[in-house]
Amino acid sequence: MSVHSEIKKITTETLRKMKFDKEKITMLTAYDFTTAKMVDAGGVDSILIGDSAANVMAGHETTLPITLDQMIYHTQCVVRGVERALVVADLPFGTYQSNPEKALESAVRMMKEGGAHAIKIEGGKEIEDSIGKIVNAGIPVCGHLGLTPQSIYQFGTYKVRAKEEAEAEKLISDCKLLEELGCFAVVLEKIPAALAKKASESISIPTIGIGAGPDCDGQVLVYHDMVGMNQGFSPKFLRRYLDLYSEITGAVSQYVKDVKNADFPNDKESY
Ligand code: KIV
Repeated sequence: MSVHSEIKKITTETLRKMKFDKEKITMLTAYDFTTAKMVDAGGVDSILIGDSAANVMAGHETTLPITLDQMIYHTQCVVRGVERALVVADLPFGTYQSNPEKALESAVRMMKEGGAHAIKIEGGKEIEDSIGKIVNAGIPVCGHLGLTPQSIYQFGTYKVRAKEEAEAEKLISDCKLLEELGCFAVVLEKIPAALAKKASESISIPTIGIGAGPDCDGQVLVYHDMVGMNQGFSPKFLRRYLDLYSEITGAVSQYVKDVKNADFPNDKESY
């Protein structure tokens, strides 16, 4: 008899069942092995290798510069740290919009080289052929609607989206389209809570909200924001669970003092 306790891995089907059972879905970002290990051990259902890596890991102002090779590298690192969570990786800007063949090629690289369990792409009707092509190849796709950061130069602002009726109607019809195309979930970013509630009730696949109120089927946050590492970013929707920026800079300055004062290393810390 095996003494190993089996870890029940989260699949896209698990998320679908969670929506059906009205159990909230949890998702956080991670971009490296060590963080992924901690986030997985904390019991999150899904880990997103977001293209927000461009901001928080590389210091870019937008998500646009990150490349597919860089996203694949981050995904490989995360996958090695995860035992339970469903690993979803963003396809970066420019790797799926031009045509369905290119979209499929990018998604296949992310699955084959990155080791992701699923991919996420931004947009609705405009990229339906790309979504269809990827889903038909057997690759799980998570949609992303509302404030889609890859379109920031078109939006011109990171303000709440879909406050006007026309954009709100398009969002609901895009949600339905994503479900029809076979997406397993859809991220809703920075839209009015009432609209997110309506969207969540209109489709049978889970909605995962960020700045989209309490009625989504799940929630996602950027790890660096929720642990308070990213001081310059304080949107209303963000709840900070730690103040790691202060903790880490405090620890570093204590280390600097200890070395300068010849207090570190002491005898016990020496061979
Ligand atoms: O890139 C990212 O981290 C994301 C989340 C904010 C949903 O897309």
